[in-house]
Amino acid sequence: SGDATLTKERTLAMIKPDGLVGNHTNFIQNTILASGFTILNQITLQLDQDTAKGFYAEHSSRTFFPNLINYITSGPVLIMVLEKVNAVSDWRSLIGPTDASKAKVTHPHSIRAMCGVNLERNCVHGSDSIKSAAREISFFFKKTNSAGENVSEHDEL
Ligand code: PPS
Repeated sequence: SGDATLTKERTLAMIKPDGLVGNHTNFIQNTILASGFTILNQITLQLDQDTAKGFYAEHSSRTFFPNLINYITSGPVLIMVLEKVNAVSDWRSLIGPTDASKAKVTHPHSIRAMCGVNLERNCVHGSDSIKSAAREISFFFKKTNSAGENVSEHDEL
């Protein structure tokens, strides 16, 4: 009894362009590992407009959508599949509030507080639900190789 709560989950994490430009990758990955996540897969990609629009499709009607697409395609991103018990919610807690400028005040030890700038340049992404995580993971890691490992269909940098 109670074993269901120990089932491992997977979530999609992305280090956004300002995270890579600012050399936050090692800090973020060390934080991920120290927090008990396994990084199952990772890929560095330069997203094109269509891929970015597909990934963020749920926000397509928002006024910030053009800014979001311009920003996320402005440089390479590092996309990771993270696994642990309660991965979706725990990764969201670790990154902190969406608006990095507010995170600096309310959650100063969160990843966005330490590496982000504002609502747009918030350094990292995390799936907001188990359902979103499944969609986002399969969006970037669709194919399976002969060893049964996920490999991206997108062109790695
Ligand atoms: S929601 O649906 O209203 O809760 O949206 P939210 O979670 O706040 O934000 C969704 C993603 O859109 C990005 N965002 C923005 N980008 C650029 N400019 C503005 N003004 C802006 N507002 C929100 C925000 O960083 C979220 O990106 P992800 O990758 O999901 O963190």
